[in-house]
Amino acid sequence: MKELLQEIIDKNRKYTKEGNVATYIPELKKANRDDLGLCIIDVNNNIYEVGDCEKKFTIQSVSKPITLALALMDNGKDRVFSKVGMEPSGDPFNSIMKLEITKPSIPYNPMINAGAIVITSMIKGKNNDEKFERMLNFFRKLSGNKNLDINYDVYMSEKRTGDRNRAMAYLLKSEGILQGDVEMVLDLYFKQCSIEVTVKDLAKIGLNLALHGIDITTGERLIDEDISRIIKTFMVTCGMYDASGQFAINVGIPSKSGVGGGIMGTVPNKMGIGVFGPSLDKKGNSIAGVKVMEDLSIKFDLSIF
Ligand code: DON
Repeated sequence: MKELLQEIIDKNRKYTKEGNVATYIPELKKANRDDLGLCIIDVNNNIYEVGDCEKKFTIQSVSKPITLALALMDNGKDRVFSKVGMEPSGDPFNSIMKLEITKPSIPYNPMINAGAIVITSMIKGKNNDEKFERMLNFFRKLSGNKNLDINYDVYMSEKRTGDRNRAMAYLLKSEGILQGDVEMVLDLYFKQCSIEVTVKDLAKIGLNLALHGIDITTGERLIDEDISRIIKTFMVTCGMYDASGQFAINVGIPSKSGVGGGIMGTVPNKMGIGVFGPSLDKKGNSIAGVKVMEDLSIKFDLSIF
């Protein structure tokens, strides 16, 4: 198994040259474009790690389905989906366009930035510190990694430069969709995106989703079954942004990408997958990571369709 996975990494590393690391968050420029790592954890808790699997990177948008799960558990479906829609937007992840032309201007889905910021605003807690602590604990439990924490430099870098997210958040506030103090909500969102992970952390979270919210090691229910189903559905329809349709056809694995280069995949009842390749394509997905997912899907017949 490990040899097969190593072959997939070796074969696809060349694609890293065809993309670029994210630069709009200055601190992300420091990533090494050639990195490519993979971890798979199956339902028997076998862990396979190959390539640059020891590298840490910020979770970025891969956090979105996870905070969605927490917000749904905190608020219930009716309240959450009165503020954020369920449809793919077909637009880039940071697009602001539809917020102005749709009435009421609720974001199309929780996987685009506008939707994710509204979701973050719904996390319960008496102040921002408590909200972040609850969020971080949830990520730690799902990943089984008690040491997860934020990368402070990436957090500050995005906080300093995240004016597009700021614009969206203020627009959403003016429309009555986002409640609370905009700067506080954004601070929490930037922290959420700056949580530092490895491919193993992503594979473990993916495995817990594959097992419908039950932790494989403790047997504890971490996510309600119905919510786990909702999360995976969003990963299929919106998880790879405006490349989700193509990805569903070519890969067919519920997945979520982030501009840090991570992809988290979840194959129901089979395995969790974590991929890291910070060289991105034009839509913000890991360019070699998507190729790795394609090969995994074909080689192990993993498409859910
Ligand atoms: O808000 C942002 O722009 C980033 N913190 C996260 C965006 C992201 O990961 C989109 N992924 N492809």
